[in-house]
Amino acid sequence: MSDAVLNQFTPQSHEEDTVDVTRRLRFGIIGTGWIAESHIESLKKMPDVDIVAGADLIPGKAEKFFKRYEVPGVHCYPDHKSMLENEKLDAVCVCTYNMTHAECTIDALDAGVNVLLEKPMTVTTEEAVEIIRAERRSGKLLSIGFQPRMDENMKMIKKIVESGELGKIYYIQTGGGRRRGIPNSTFIEEKTAGIGALGDIGCYALDMVLNAIGYPKPLTVSGYRSAYFGPNPKYNNPADAARFNVDDFAAAFIRLEGDIVLDFRIAWAMHIDTPGDTIILGTEGALRIPSTECWNGTVGGPMKLYRDVAGNQVEFEIPLSEQKDSFGGLFYLKLRSFADAIKNGGQPPVPSSQILYNQAIIDGIVKSAKIGHEIEISIPEI
Ligand SMILES: NC(=O)c1ccc[n+]([C@@H]2O[C@H](COP(=O)([O-])OP(=O)(O)OC[C@H]3O[C@@H](n4cnc5c(N)ncnc54)[C@H](O)[C@@H]3O)[C@@H](O)[C@H]2O)c1
Repeated sequence: MSDAVLNQFTPQSHEEDTVDVTRRLRFGIIGTGWIAESHIESLKKMPDVDIVAGADLIPGKAEKFFKRYEVPGVHCYPDHKSMLENEKLDAVCVCTYNMTHAECTIDALDAGVNVLLEKPMTVTTEEAVEIIRAERRSGKLLSIGFQPRMDENMKMIKKIVESGELGKIYYIQTGGGRRRGIPNSTFIEEKTAGIGALGDIGCYALDMVLNAIGYPKPLTVSGYRSAYFGPNPKYNNPADAARFNVDDFAAAFIRLEGDIVLDFRIAWAMHIDTPGDTIILGTEGALRIPSTECWNGTVGGPMKLYRDVAGNQVEFEIPLSEQKDSFGGLFYLKLRSFADAIKNGGQPPVPSSQILYNQAIIDGIVKSAKIGHEIEISIPEI
């Protein structure tokens, strides 16, 4: 991964709000790989959180991880099941690769533990449904790890839509990506990631716009997936190219409830810098959101709102909002809001009921791409 991408997750210092330290939360971390670093950095800043357990399938990895982060006394386990059996926890962060999201989350919920699950929610719609069933039978809190939800500019997109300035929304173009930015590690193999760019960064683009418009139900999808860069040693390092077997590009045309269409494309690599800005078209106005490499943080620049005013076609620039904190701060806020919801009996900051539709679109793209034509998106009863 490039430094530019990694640095986005470097935690910044954060002024701790007043926190009730008399009620403490016992946290565990499942999967002590790359993203667990951002989780532990954030958890360490919370005066009411004790990091007491961790698990990783790779022998010795969890032990080294907690030593590196100077968190003493953490009980380490060779898998999530033994950790859940032996520890009394309030919450876990599921930081495993996508293919084990479902089993780790379901087992944790069934053990009576609140879960913060990293994005994408999982790989298939069926797994997402099983997760939500476990959430319901456990009565525990489940939040999905979309830190851009905490970003002030991302929040502004939703505020603009909800203000009615755009009128009725009928068309959205979203997605994004980069000319070259293929990750490596466990992201590029089906046995660990399940899906490629589509799941990794596609889920962010979908969440940005679907959250803004209130997550209408997806109805149909015509999807496409390809991998012309990842497996090609001309564009990827030969060792990674040899094991690459997920998508590096995906596109889709999705119909949503409420007569809205969503035109989507996402790329880890392509022969252009961006497949376009995100645009939201409404009957009264339109919004342009400058593209970024992957929408995992904030917007790519000031947004523009287009309206007719007294017969004139005008454009307004929406000034970028000051961040309460920068990228590391978004991670902190994602974890803090989850911890606060546990303590205060609040709602999950990013509810599974919404992200189910995100997952159903991703899974619909996979299924439609496989058979080469449009399909209905079907979501099992929960
Ligand atoms: N929110 C973000 O900005 C962001 C950024 C990067 C990655 N992610 C997500 O985080 C997840 C992990 O990514 P990563 O880069 O850290 O992967 P990684 O491969 O570096 O780490 C995953 C770890 O999980 C462990 N693991 C898998 N199954 C396990 C199990 N059942 N019990 C215990 N350990 C298990 C693996 O051994 C591995 O060490 C992915 O789903 C990814 O999409 C989120």
